[in-house]
Amino acid sequence: EDPRVTRIKRSIRVVPDFPKPGIMFQDITTLLLDPQAFKDTVDMFVERYKDKNISVVAARAGEDRNPTLEFPITESLAGIEARGFIFGPPIALATGAKFVPLRKPKKLPGEVISEEYILEYGRDCLQMHVGAVKAGERALVVDDLIATGGTLCAAMNLLERVGAHVVECACVIELPDLKGRERLNGKPLYVLVESH
Ligand code: PRP
Ligand code: MG
Repeated sequence: EDPRVTRIKRSIRVVPDFPKPGIMFQDITTLLLDPQAFKDTVDMFVERYKDKNISVVAARAGEDRNPTLEFPITESLAGIEARGFIFGPPIALATGAKFVPLRKPKKLPGEVISEEYILEYGRDCLQMHVGAVKAGERALVVDDLIATGGTLCAAMNLLERVGAHVVECACVIELPDLKGRERLNGKPLYVLVESH
């Protein structure tokens, strides 16, 4: 195992019965208290998503771009409120992608599109500004954790509704027992840590 993954795993605190009985809460605030673990987390995503450019150029026929110019695999990086806002922006900055916040309702001032979804504990909705992502753009969706997959699914729906191509979803933690991966309709999911 990559020693960085070992450190990341150890830095995540598991809190039983939060916020409801029976839920093993994966607390990433303790990861953030370990600057090396936080840096390793961001670095591992950045290594994966930067400089995978050539085939991307080829895939973007018809665009007014210099085909020899290198540009990142993702042009936009959608981060999901709230914990996806912690990991998304540093990855966006390091890979040269723009950062698009996917927010809970009534937070965005401009015109929005909305997707409702069912959570492990409750119901919620994500919104995105219309115009933040354009048709044909390659987007990466980032969040801290995938549990049932409902949140990532809603995020992907928002991006696909505006014609973006979701390249992959990236999370720090996966709870594989909840089979959230199966809700992603075959979309690739990259995770650093699995927690059972
Ligand atoms: C948590 C977590 C993921 C989501 C995963 O967010 O940060 O976004 O649940 O669950 P799912 O795969 O079952 O959809 P939460 O909505 O609790 O809010 P927060 O990020 O604002 O803390
Ligand atoms: Mg969340």
